[in-house]
Parts: sequence; structure tokens; C-alpha cells
Amino acid sequence: MADRTVEVYRVQELESVLDSLYGTSVEGATERYANLINDFKNKYGVAPEFIGRSPGRVNIVGEHIDYEGYSVLPMAIRQDTIVAIGRASDLNVHVATLAPGLTEEEFTIDAERIGVALHTWVDYVKAAYIGVCKHLQRNSSTGLNLLIEGQVPQGSGLSSSAALVCATALAILGLLGETVLQAEVAQFTAECEKFVGTESGGMDQAISIMGELGKAKLVHFNPIRTEDAPLPKGASFVIANSLAVSKKAEGAARQYNMRVVECRLAAAVLGVKLGLEPDDVRAAQSKMLAGPKGSVTGAEAEVVKKYLDKEKYTQAELEQLLGVELEKMFEGNNNQLDELWPWCSGFNLRDRALHVYSEAARVVDFKAICDSEAKQDDEPKKLDKLATLMKQSHASCRYEYDCSCEELNHLVEASINAGALGSRLTGAGWGGCTVSLVPEGKVESFIAEVKQKYYMAKLEAKKLSQKDFKEDGKGGWEPVVGWKNVIFASPPGSGGAILDLTKFAS
Ligand code: GLA
Repeated sequence: MADRTVEVYRVQELESVLDSLYGTSVEGATERYANLINDFKNKYGVAPEFIGRSPGRVNIVGEHIDYEGYSVLPMAIRQDTIVAIGRASDLNVHVATLAPGLTEEEFTIDAERIGVALHTWVDYVKAAYIGVCKHLQRNSSTGLNLLIEGQVPQGSGLSSSAALVCATALAILGLLGETVLQAEVAQFTAECEKFVGTESGGMDQAISIMGELGKAKLVHFNPIRTEDAPLPKGASFVIANSLAVSKKAEGAARQYNMRVVECRLAAAVLGVKLGLEPDDVRAAQSKMLAGPKGSVTGAEAEVVKKYLDKEKYTQAELEQLLGVELEKMFEGNNNQLDELWPWCSGFNLRDRALHVYSEAARVVDFKAICDSEAKQDDEPKKLDKLATLMKQSHASCRYEYDCSCEELNHLVEASINAGALGSRLTGAGWGGCTVSLVPEGKVESFIAEVKQKYYMAKLEAKKLSQKDFKEDGKGGWEPVVGWKNVIFASPPGSGGAILDLTKFAS
């Protein structure tokens, strides 16, 4: 579906709207929204006019291939960011958050004058504002008051940044009275992350905006559109946070952007070796994107191994092969140019390309299995096949894409030992969460066992930060943020929405 507009709810009473947004996980939502509205009034002296909300996501399969143009298969989760907005009396955007310890900020409504560089959370708000202005080709004509509350844990690989950017953009669009297509918002919010320094693809924003209650989605790019991926019955997806923090816009950004660069280079070298004009780097890239034969098959792995025969390529070797200076090739893109600094000891093109091709094929296979008509007694077989793809995906992320870490590998191992059929890292990696496919009836025992086999075992071995845990009053330990925020089953949640509060008498 590419042509749906973002849902705008004209709120007269909160309950029914929140029921549609959260379905069976609505508990606590009314109080949360009422608190946001009240806190906004206390802070700015007037009621908010709109709320933008957008969720985090968990990627089930298809890691690090969205920026290559390949389709991915994520679902939105229940945890989201909500942003209340109203008009300000001056020409600034005032931003405040309900999260403890985060400072308030303000910036001008003149998008041209906003600098985004520091990697504080407000940069994502600024990026969203700039994105909206660029998309509408105008600034807001009034100042804005914003109050933000977010439940997607940061640095967990569940896309807290996309939830913040998308919810902010939706709040602003609501206030400006703009009717927008979901795909348009998904597209421009994906560009917003680039202002903050990460060359990410469009998966997080697409599913945050286009997610649907009860449905995982196959997301296609160029242009962004989605198909439903019916998840088989009898299985739950359990998300577990390794508690190793993966901050895409900080440490992991370097690694992330490096992978983007390596993939572009791999595509370019393959293109040249497959007989494209050596200086036509762009064409070489699209040749890889489509797959050498226009589709993704096992044959690509052979092509990759044959033509990308070195373990690592130096800048000089690549420039000779491609007949172009890399600085020229990446001109105009500072996030990617940064990765060419002398500290870089070489580019691992073969392994990265092997991951991209095999992962893209796994997404196609996963969707085909989801779609296949299965008789009731075939469902377990379906689950096994999906689980195998998830395991393969983790191995490929670990060994070929090198985006895992010790904690994630232990957590995946502990999850399989605790009864998961399949388990893998989810999101950018280098920390953050895993997603495990667990038979429905076993979720509780699975979670109980992972608590012991991963969290408690690691805590005892002093391999997890003691600061993340507190005594549970029963002689044991629990995460400071509570177990339900660290390991939980997640049915697919709904996507971004705008709540119009102008007729709401609170
Ligand atoms: C991050 C990016 C996404 C995607 C994933 C890895 O979440 O924002 O675009 O590349 O990493 O699959």
C-alpha cells in the first residue's frame, strides 16, 4: 500500500481512539495521554492542539539491506513516542521532554538557520522540523511548543530515534493542517536521520509510520510501499535487550556508516568486473542492487566470491580498480566521506556483499513461507523453516557483516537453549536487542529461563553493568527499568498517527 494518508483521529474522548491504536495492549494508555496533556498545560499554560505518535520497531528478518534497496520484514511494536504540540507566542520551537535528566531547548522556526550536529536528543527533533519544512517547502508561520514522552528504550536497536523523528514530524504536520501520505512521511523522515549523521536506510521510519496492528510488513523501497506478511499461528516474537548499548548516532555510527561505504564499494567493484563502464560507478551500483541477473539467487554468492577475491581492499587498490578517486565518488556526502580517513585499514567487500545477497534472499523466502497455505498440522513445519532463516540471519550478521557483539551472541545462544526455535540480533547491532521466535505456549517459561541463563548469569560474572539492576525485595535482582521493558513478547503494533485535540474537552 503506497497511497494511504496518515490516520488523523479527531479526539472527543481518549478511550476509543486509544483502543484503535493499541488494541489489546491499551492498558495504561489513557492515563499516559492524559498526563501528557496535563503536563503540557502546566508547562505552556494552554492545552496542546495535536499529538503525534509513532512506534519503535523490531526487525524480524532483513538486516542491513534496506540501504541497498532490498526489501525487509519488520513489525511495529507497542512502545512508542508521543509528542504534544501547540502554538507558541514567539517565533521559536520550544522543546521539552518528560524524561528525567534531559534538558529543555529551543530553536528558531527558520529551518535554514538550524544547526544539527551535536548528537543530543534535540537534534532528532530539529531534524524532524527541518524535514517537514523541506517537504512542505515552507517554515511554520508560528512558533511551536512541544512536549515529548517516549517509551522506546534508547540504544536498544528498537528505533527510538525513528519513533522520535516520526512522532515529532506527525505532530508538526497535524498542527500545520497538512494531509500527508504515509509513504511521503516515511520517505522524508528517513532523510532526516542523515542530518544527524547516520546513513541509515528507510526501514525504521517506514514501519514506524506504516505499521498496522496485528501485522508484520514486507517493506519495499524506491518507492516505499508495504505488503502484509501474515505471521504463522502458534508463535510469538520475544524481544530481549542485551543491555549492551548500541548508539547509532555515536560509537556505532562509525561502524554503521562504514558498512554503507563498504556496500557501495562492493557494488561498484562488482559492476566494473561484470563489464560496466569503469567510470560509471552509479550504474555499477544499481547492477548490484538488482542482482547481477536481475534477481537474488544463490548464484550471486559465486559471483561475489569470484570477483571480490581479496579479504580486504585498500583505498589505493580500489581507486585503481574503479578508475576514480574515492573522495570524488563520495563527494557531497560527509557521513560517507568520513569513513575514508587514514585510520581505516581497508574495506571488507566480499563478506559484506555475501551478507547482503544472502540476507535479501532470506527475506524473500521468509515472506513466501508466511504466505504459503498451510494446513493446521503444517504450521509447526512453517515455524521451523522461519526459525532456520532467523538463525542463518544471525550467523551472517555475526560472521559476514560483523555487526554483532559478545553480549548479543550470548543472548542468542541462551535464547535457543531456553526453547526459542530461532533467535537473532535485530536492528543495527553492535548491542541492543535480539528477537526470538518462541512457540506460543512456551513464552513464560522461555522468559523465565533467559532471565537466569543470560541476565543473572552475566550479572554474576560481572559482565553486565550493576547500575542497570536493583534488588527486587525477594533476595534477587531486577532491571532498574523493570523486566517488562527488558524482555517481552511483542505482537505487531500500529503505525504512526495524528490525534487532533482541538475538539477535545479535557
Ligand atoms: C538501523 C537503520 C536501518 C537499518 C538497520 C539495520 O536501524 O536505521 O535503516 O539499516 O539499522 O537493518
